[in-house]
Amino acid sequence: MPSGRFIAFEGGEGAGKSTQVAALAAHLREQGREVVVTREPGGAPAAEAIREILLDHRFVGLSARAEALLFAAARAEHVERTIRPGLERGAVVITDRYLDSSIAYQGISRALGIDVVEEISLWATESLLPDLTIVLDVAPTVGLGRAGKPDRMEAEPLDFHLRVRQGFLDLAARQPERYLVIAADGERDDIARRVAAAVDVVVAGESV
Ligand code: TYD
Repeated sequence: MPSGRFIAFEGGEGAGKSTQVAALAAHLREQGREVVVTREPGGAPAAEAIREILLDHRFVGLSARAEALLFAAARAEHVERTIRPGLERGAVVITDRYLDSSIAYQGISRALGIDVVEEISLWATESLLPDLTIVLDVAPTVGLGRAGKPDRMEAEPLDFHLRVRQGFLDLAARQPERYLVIAADGERDDIARRVAAAVDVVVAGESV
């Protein structure tokens, strides 16, 4: 049984996830904890190679099913090489995106269906789910404006990103005890404090 804690950040483009991931990692390290910071798609060598394909403009129009399977394949490798080993060592593993991104982007926004996308990812990860998922909620018009040169996913129309946003909010509403939803347009340090307080509770519940 993994003994560490698993925290995922989710949200649309430009929600400030990477800033908050870094702030949380620093907070936990100050407490002397081992922290693994990682991201999706990616987080392991083969998964980073799959990431290149997924974000490459050469593959605009990639079939939605191929896209869903590639995200799941990358996730399988990420879990096996990085996340599970970290949890087994007792680390706090913080990932920038995880399974809910597949549900929101492929399941909902690409309309492949929530259930099938969830099932593929649960198979890929042997049902490893985060202890806490933090959704940084931002209007796509704001978030996309913050992002630089758009990658293949960011280049999707506004409607696509509106469905993604609603998707994350619906997922959080489905299981509120496993989520923290924060408006991402607030003050950065204030968001970091709220995230740290919630994660401290999750980490304190750790079995030693
Ligand atoms: P990335 O540059 O990591 O975006 P961000 O900085 O917004 O996290 O690119 C990842 C893109 O892939 C992003 O548009 C979200 C999308 N994505 C999916 O569509 N499905 C998934 O399962 C994951 C993990 C990401």
